[in-house]
Amino acid sequence: MEALNQKLIALQESTNQMNSVIEALDTGMIMVDQNGIIKLVNRSFGSMFDLPVDQMIGTHYDAYLSNYNLSPFLLKCMETNTPKRLEMPLFYPQERMVEASLTPIQENNQQAGLVAIFRDLTAFRHLEDLRRDFVANVSHELKTPLTSIVGFTETLLDGARKDPDTCKEFLQIIYKEGLRLQRLVSDLLDLSKIESKQIPIKMEIVSVQMVVHDVVETLVEQMQAKNLRLLTDVAPLMVKMDTDCVRQILVNLLANAMNYTPVGGKVTVKVKQNKQHWLLQVMDTGIGIPESDQPRIFERFYRVDKARSRNSGGTGLGLAIVKHLVELQHGEIEVESAVGKGSIFTVRFPLDVSEI
Ligand SMILES: Nc1ncnc2c1ncn2[C@@H]1O[C@H](COP(=O)(O)OP(=O)(O)O)[C@@H](O)[C@H]1O
Ligand SMILES: [Mg+2]
Repeated sequence: MEALNQKLIALQESTNQMNSVIEALDTGMIMVDQNGIIKLVNRSFGSMFDLPVDQMIGTHYDAYLSNYNLSPFLLKCMETNTPKRLEMPLFYPQERMVEASLTPIQENNQQAGLVAIFRDLTAFRHLEDLRRDFVANVSHELKTPLTSIVGFTETLLDGARKDPDTCKEFLQIIYKEGLRLQRLVSDLLDLSKIESKQIPIKMEIVSVQMVVHDVVETLVEQMQAKNLRLLTDVAPLMVKMDTDCVRQILVNLLANAMNYTPVGGKVTVKVKQNKQHWLLQVMDTGIGIPESDQPRIFERFYRVDKARSRNSGGTGLGLAIVKHLVELQHGEIEVESAVGKGSIFTVRFPLDVSEI
């Protein structure tokens, strides 16, 4: 008697453990017997299909699943005694793509019901979509300058080279498009290196004033050529940072400030410190960014005005690179902007970087 008790207790324990595992799964699971009565269903299934799992045990699956066009598949799986796999879109409570795998159960060579597992593929599909969009975007960005290079070269070969003025003009266009391709490929390489975390982070204590000064110096001439005033208001801070990263962040933000600010405007670099962060700001008095575009400008190839960006030599990747670089150092970036007034980009870096 004692031995039987022990066995029952052990059995109960292992059932409990099994139930805990099934409940903890983030895949939905349901088990029905040969009569279609639900024997087991987990919470993930409930939230996926928005169904009350507590009330489902002991009822026929049809009562709950007929709305989802699942019943015929369950029936077929049991009748034919073969596993089935299908993808089904769900629209409620959220739009999702779910993969269902149905496996028949046999006991003593008899049909004994089935187990169905449901996996949410939405995030996976979303990644696939992003990748596809990215490849399409890159191809498009490469195609435009290439078409132009091939076209102008053909015209030159066909005879246009004999007129010196035309020849020079076309060569200049070819050169300009070549430079654009070079920038694009270089930005793409940067982005892929950063994304695959191939860039080692080298944190060192440096003077922010010095870093800002170095970058500003390389841009002064271009600023003057466009009659833009460049002001700096940089606190004398020594902070731990990856100098190359911060430099590239600043270069990209300043290039934008310069490109999107009309002649006669003002660009300011500001650095200050608060309790836990140091802040790097680039402000301009330029064309500004409409509020509806602001959340998207950090996406790859997103531009408010395509033609304007291209004319300024932009690749549409500058801010995507900046955002990655900021995040590598556990920082955050945000933008405030008003159309026709200007923009402020604020990068916030943690001062305590012991864990980076
Ligand atoms: N300082 C700014 N003022 C106005 N618009 C800006 C500014 N910075 C970025 N933008 C907008 O965000 C878009 C994305 O910026 P970015 O990733 O650097 O690409 P781009 O190569 O086009 O400059 C730009 O095309 C532009 O529309
Ligand atoms: Mg840019």
